[in-house]
Amino acid sequence: MKVKNFFTILLSSASIFTYSSYASDVELLKQARQYFSPLPEVFPSDNNPLTPEKIKLGKILFYEPRVSIDGATSCSKCHPLTLYGADGLKKAQGNNGKINPRNAPTVLNSAGQITQHWRGDRKDVEDQAKRALLGKGSFGAPSYEWVENKLKSIKGYKELFKKAFPNEKDPITVDNFAKAIGAWERTLSTPSRFDKFLNGYVNALNEQEKRGLKKFISIGCASCHQGALLGGTMYQKFGVVEPYWKYTKSEKIDLGRYSVTKKEEDKYVFKVPPLRNIAKTAPYFHDGSVWSLKDAIKIMAKVQLGKDLSKKDIEDIYAFLKSLTGELSEDIKTIPVLPSYN
Ligand code: HEC
Ligand code: HEC
Repeated sequence: MKVKNFFTILLSSASIFTYSSYASDVELLKQARQYFSPLPEVFPSDNNPLTPEKIKLGKILFYEPRVSIDGATSCSKCHPLTLYGADGLKKAQGNNGKINPRNAPTVLNSAGQITQHWRGDRKDVEDQAKRALLGKGSFGAPSYEWVENKLKSIKGYKELFKKAFPNEKDPITVDNFAKAIGAWERTLSTPSRFDKFLNGYVNALNEQEKRGLKKFISIGCASCHQGALLGGTMYQKFGVVEPYWKYTKSEKIDLGRYSVTKKEEDKYVFKVPPLRNIAKTAPYFHDGSVWSLKDAIKIMAKVQLGKDLSKKDIEDIYAFLKSLTGELSEDIKTIPVLPSYN
């Protein structure tokens, strides 16, 4: 009798426990859905409809170094996709070893943002791709015409551009280069366990990751890092409470959007970066000045929110951020064969 009672109590308390943790999971899911949404399968554009032929060409062009002044610089040099679309350098290295002023963000999911680049000075992925060609720190091409002539001199591109842009008489143009690459980038969506959670599978995250998510929302990270990408939806000052460089060991102070808009209120303002795949894209911040994600979390809490996180909170948020690492599709993981000159 006694033994039976003991088990009844054990069982019922276990089920109360399960029920209450289920209820709190549902509550957390409800909260999370107010800030975040699952990644879409692709990031569509009205100006650049996606077709398989365009995407295929875009993927090839992403790996094409012959349109750079040193013949050795391609998009993939600074955004290697098998390494989650970022180069692992503090600051990217372009043609002839030129060092860029900023860290290279990942191209994965990047098409889902309001604008491109740390300061938001590129309209969309197509604008970004086109202007990278003339960028002194990237391809360093002398002119768009030079690029078009290069592409025309590579025989295999004739057919590829024709298929991708079937209604055009002279399809080998830099605008179509940009559209094709943009189309490819618009397919680089990398859903993770967090998307399963948002879709209602509350057990897709473990207890620590859920604690981290809860903290991420309650402390205020989600007031800036929100949407499907946990970023890319707005601009904010880096260093709301204290100057960032007190903690980042930055070598040079970047004025942020101020250098684009010349408005006083844009000093040290940057686009809030997405946090998808963040565990894979060290070093962190616009200048790549911080190597550890845990340090980046600590600094963010300090300079954006004026809070000192406990070691446990940092560990929990870190665990949650790791759940944002997506699966790379076979298409993302394979490198295409480039067309030959003749
Ligand atoms: C020399 C290295 C280098 C090359 C080559 C390069 N990039 Fe980048 N990329 C960068 C850097 C650095 C940034 C950040 C620039 C900034 O914000 O000032 C960037 C930013 C971007 C972004 C914006 C991401 C975001 O979150 O805002 C996209 C998209 C992108 N590059 C795609 C491309 C494509 C496509 C190509 C080829 C046409 C290319 N890049 C070539 C280094 C490079
Ligand atoms: C007031 C808005 C705001 C808040 C609140 C905020 N962030 Fe940020 N976050 C930013 C901005 C802006 C940047 C870009 C900083 C830069 O220029 O390098 C950033 C950068 C980051 C980065 C580096 C991203 C990269 O690609 O290098 C991480 C990680 C990060 N935030 C996590 C957090 C966490 C965790 C919290 C909560 C403790 C948080 N952020 C709170 C605006 C915010």
